[in-house]
Amino acid sequence: MSDEPKKYSTVHYHQYLGLDKLLDAQHPRSAELEPEPAHDEMLFIIVHQSYEIWFKQILHEVGSVVEMFQTNKVDERNISTSIARLNRVIEIFKLLIEHIRIMETMTPLDFLDFRKYLFPASGFQSFQFRKVENTLGLPESDRMTYNNYHYATFFTKEQQEELNQIAKGNNLFAAVEDWLERTPFLRFGGFEFLEHYKASVERMVEKEAEAIRASSYLSEKEKEGRLRMMANTDPYFRSILDPHVHSEEKGKGTFRLSYDAMLAALMINLYNEEPLLQGPYRFLLCLIDIDELLTTWRYRHAQMVLRMLGRKTGTGGSSGHSYLRQTAIKHHIFTDLHNISTLLIPRSELPALPSRLVKELGFYYTSKED
Ligand code: HEM
Repeated sequence: MSDEPKKYSTVHYHQYLGLDKLLDAQHPRSAELEPEPAHDEMLFIIVHQSYEIWFKQILHEVGSVVEMFQTNKVDERNISTSIARLNRVIEIFKLLIEHIRIMETMTPLDFLDFRKYLFPASGFQSFQFRKVENTLGLPESDRMTYNNYHYATFFTKEQQEELNQIAKGNNLFAAVEDWLERTPFLRFGGFEFLEHYKASVERMVEKEAEAIRASSYLSEKEKEGRLRMMANTDPYFRSILDPHVHSEEKGKGTFRLSYDAMLAALMINLYNEEPLLQGPYRFLLCLIDIDELLTTWRYRHAQMVLRMLGRKTGTGGSSGHSYLRQTAIKHHIFTDLHNISTLLIPRSELPALPSRLVKELGFYYTSKED
């Protein structure tokens, strides 16, 4: 008789994957309510269920990254693990966008065969979708209301509490902001990065303005217009050069990240070729990718809704396509990281880092003789 511990007991594929439950979870309503079920309702259910399973995986990955970043010390290994996990999330989002094409094999008339049985159910009631948005750090203040209802109105008290707790700070945006603020080289040995940077910005702006003034293709009026447009980027430069301006602009909603976090993100971008900044840089790129892919999904879903419903209102009671388009325009998370590009200057203008800092940011190997 084997006394092998129970944990090594064998398991069957079917059992391991809970297939009894999973495959018994598709119940087209048209099959219950009509003599002939609507053929495409099965697809509608399965596509939604697949999304929910992927949302679960996204939450698993992003939640683990938030946890790693909430520790006071995020070491290099955690950055690599986080990048690997966020890259997985990026691939899942790409799949979710492609998934819409499968849904679109259903025609609007096929959809109308069972749509009447869906009221008032709607993707708007997906708790996991709201958790994904909140775990990434979608700001509460920018959220669209839905027929003047807060998005969380449709959930239970416990679910509302969970969403609230995530929104209040247990999310990726907040964890990344804290981590950026702790970046050690910001105040390295009295390095006057900002003074050098300011001079570089002034040189860059002057060169661009000079190129506009010297252009033989533009009329005087067009030149004036272009120069005025260039001045629109001024608040960005002034904010990074002066914390008071940053705080004013943050108050107006121009930025969301704190001053120190912005400065750190700028330095990581500008000096991303320094060996120790490559990981943080790639990590920030992952955040930008995820934000963009979520926005792409919102547009794509809105387009699908237009194709299926035209201007009809949604089963959940929103204006349908126009509500969804607005969410694509308004619901962004890491806009500040996109905006860092406004602040970038050409490599040729980059202030040289003090040699001690360059050494800190590099990988150094000593030979046996050293
Ligand atoms: C025929 C296919 C679909 C149609 C016609 C459709 C329609 C709509 C409409 C009209 C809304 C706005 C809320 C409302 O008034 O109901 C909505 C919201 C939503 N739908 Fe879909 N949908 C479809 C497929 C999907 C799929 C496959 C998913 C995947 C989970 C999904 C997820 C969502 C989510 C998460 C929202 C809330 C968006 C937000 O408030 O930001 N939908 N959908």
